[in-house]
Amino acid sequence: MKERFTILKTNAEVRSRITELAAEISRDYQHIQEDNPLLLLCTLRGAVFFSADLVRELTIPCEIDFLKVHSYQGTRPAGSPIFDLGEHIDVRGRHVLIVEDIIDTGHTMNTVMQNFADKGAADIRICTMLDKPSRRDEQLKERIVPNYIGFPIDDLFVVGWGLDYNEKYRLFPDIMVYHPDAGCGKE
Ligand code: IMP
Ligand code: MG
Repeated sequence: MKERFTILKTNAEVRSRITELAAEISRDYQHIQEDNPLLLLCTLRGAVFFSADLVRELTIPCEIDFLKVHSYQGTRPAGSPIFDLGEHIDVRGRHVLIVEDIIDTGHTMNTVMQNFADKGAADIRICTMLDKPSRRDEQLKERIVPNYIGFPIDDLFVVGWGLDYNEKYRLFPDIMVYHPDAGCGKE
């Protein structure tokens, strides 16, 4: 019988990729000074584990804040993302790095980017743990291009390392492909 969960990236693979990403980001932002630290904006809840691991490996001055974004119902997008985009967050003159768990159609990131577009940030970049480029909406293909990608993946529904299926499976230590129609497996 087909397993319901199959490993896509092991815990060790994700950890070592985070170390590489943190080194790359620290290098790219080496001009950052204490008086204007990098502002890492983590999208809740999926990116919380990835962000926490990433931020602790950065070697540059850094602050972290959170955006609440939710758009999936089951294994397909639910339509417009629902947001608490943190109107309190002042990005004027800030170097902003949005940290996302996974980019699929690109609508969520597009709405986040639009929200911050005219708010005077010095620059805004995107770091995502996973990217599904084949799922990107046609009109967002050129607009939503993450600056930092943990792993590009095929059109698969994945859980673990913060990613959920209807709030389940977030705490799996590996990134697993979820096959909802398969029989018994790790539950
Ligand atoms: P987008 O707006 O279509 O790009 O969807 C992005 C959001 O959908 C992500 O932030 C996730 O919360 C969720 N999502 C997309 N693909 C997956 C997946 O394979 N597993 C779990 N959540 C996903
Ligand atoms: Mg997300």
